[in-house]
Amino acid sequence: MAEYRQWRNENRTYLKDVIPLDTPYNLKVEVSSLCNAKCVYCAHSKPDHGVFEGNMPVELMERILRDSKEFPNRYKVMEMFSFGESLCNPNLPELINMAKKADVAEKINFTTNGLLLTEKKIDELIAAGTDIIRISLQGRDAKSYWDTCRVKVDFEEFLSKLKYLYDHKGDCSVRMKIADVAIKGIENGQEKFEEIFGPIADTIFVEKIIPMYADIDYNEIDSSIYHESINGREKIKQTKINTVCNRPFYRLRVAADGKVTAACCDIPNDFYYGNIYEQSLHDIWEGQRRKNLLMMQLEGRRFEHPICKGCTIPNDITTEADVLDPWREKILAKYK
Ligand SMILES: C[S@@+](CC[C@H](N)C(=O)[O-])C[C@H]1O[C@@H](n2cnc3c(N)ncnc32)[C@H](O)[C@@H]1O
Repeated sequence: MAEYRQWRNENRTYLKDVIPLDTPYNLKVEVSSLCNAKCVYCAHSKPDHGVFEGNMPVELMERILRDSKEFPNRYKVMEMFSFGESLCNPNLPELINMAKKADVAEKINFTTNGLLLTEKKIDELIAAGTDIIRISLQGRDAKSYWDTCRVKVDFEEFLSKLKYLYDHKGDCSVRMKIADVAIKGIENGQEKFEEIFGPIADTIFVEKIIPMYADIDYNEIDSSIYHESINGREKIKQTKINTVCNRPFYRLRVAADGKVTAACCDIPNDFYYGNIYEQSLHDIWEGQRRKNLLMMQLEGRRFEHPICKGCTIPNDITTEADVLDPWREKILAKYK
């Protein structure tokens, strides 16, 4: 039976002690910006979210891996997904295997809705060396899938694929979570979720949906979402909205078209740092555009920014090691 726990590791490094980082801890690689679902809480449910939609070419991955060698250290994790659904890219196993062989990250993972998994794909993903597969579940039957992500799923068939994954996972860790809105109002919703998915996952948990995307009205989904968002996705008890978003201090994203951005919810790539076809990842990481975003956070100006101001990601922390607010002045001096 799966252990009930969140996805992120609780044994976190105190960010305040290690920044500025010479190497990102987390490189997010958007292998696909296409998505086959329209989760009501995600910006992909909007018809026009204004980003390039497509798959990352193999040649772009080669460039990422080449550039990655310029950093002094390996990434702690290379995440092969971002805003889209990575299984929409037919080359996902090959891309993962390339990254594995290049040995630029301690771990390689991806988060997926799992809907496009087949037995063949699962075998390829495991053979490619994927360390962690994280499945975002949107319901515990066909109806709740339709209600949450507008996908008509053959639920029994889907479950059998997930079981196949668990039975053939080898050294790969299989982690699952369900969005809380998908089980709200259902009698014994969490128990039923645990009963169905507990036997076919290493870990499971219920994730809190929080306001993240500027163009979604979360009140329309559930009136408690804004109210409870101060406690983040993992429900860590907090009393204030954090000023500084910690994400850009340790994460970097390469979008499917080569744009390099802050790995956050800036779907239209507003926090654009550069383009990997024009500049190396290392130079972009050390560059002025990223520094400007960090300064905006540290100087408390995020509440003036149209994308950042309503986002509750700064409260989506795992432990207090992720919080930078108390050390704002000290950290600011390091970046000036
Ligand atoms: C944007 S999805 C992309 C990866 C993949 N398509 C999937 O469904 O897992 C990444 C993760 O963000 C979560 N997510 C998206 N919007 C969210 C929100 N407003 N609050 C909490 N989690 C959210 C999804 O449930 C998913 O686990």
